[in-house]
Amino acid sequence: MKILVLNGPNLNLLGQREPEVYGKTTLADIEAMVRARATQKGAEIDFRQSNLEGELVTWIQQARGKFDVILLNAAAYTHTSIALRDAIVAATVPTIEIHLSNVHAREEFRHRSLIAPVCRGVIAGFGADSYLLGVESACNVKV
Ligand code: DQA
Repeated sequence: MKILVLNGPNLNLLGQREPEVYGKTTLADIEAMVRARATQKGAEIDFRQSNLEGELVTWIQQARGKFDVILLNAAAYTHTSIALRDAIVAATVPTIEIHLSNVHAREEFRHRSLIAPVCRGVIAGFGADSYLLGVESACNVKV
């Protein structure tokens, strides 16, 4: 099982960025947690972050045939990006949408996800544990 974990804009700032919303855990901490859980499950992880929409699109396109599942925290692009949605459809790699925060308990503009309809499922609101739940779900995804 090969899992591609993609992180969108501003997630490189986790730990310093709005800690009251996102907690004090850094992206490096999350990567270490994800790798440890994946090792227990016998899964391989490729973990990346980009602030650029086009780079995320390219990584999703390239995942076709190389990864079994994508865990995607598209951050703000979740709510705006038709390009990411189209890339998920084109890649045909089962994709799970991840959020640290409960986007439905926040501003109204975060309630809409353009990518959720083309994802297998959505995990939101559990802080860094959302990623661990993502690894668990990825390992159970039916292709
Ligand atoms: C986020 C939620 C998004 O609305 C926001 O733009 C982010 C982080 C989360 O993980 O809770 O950057 O994806």
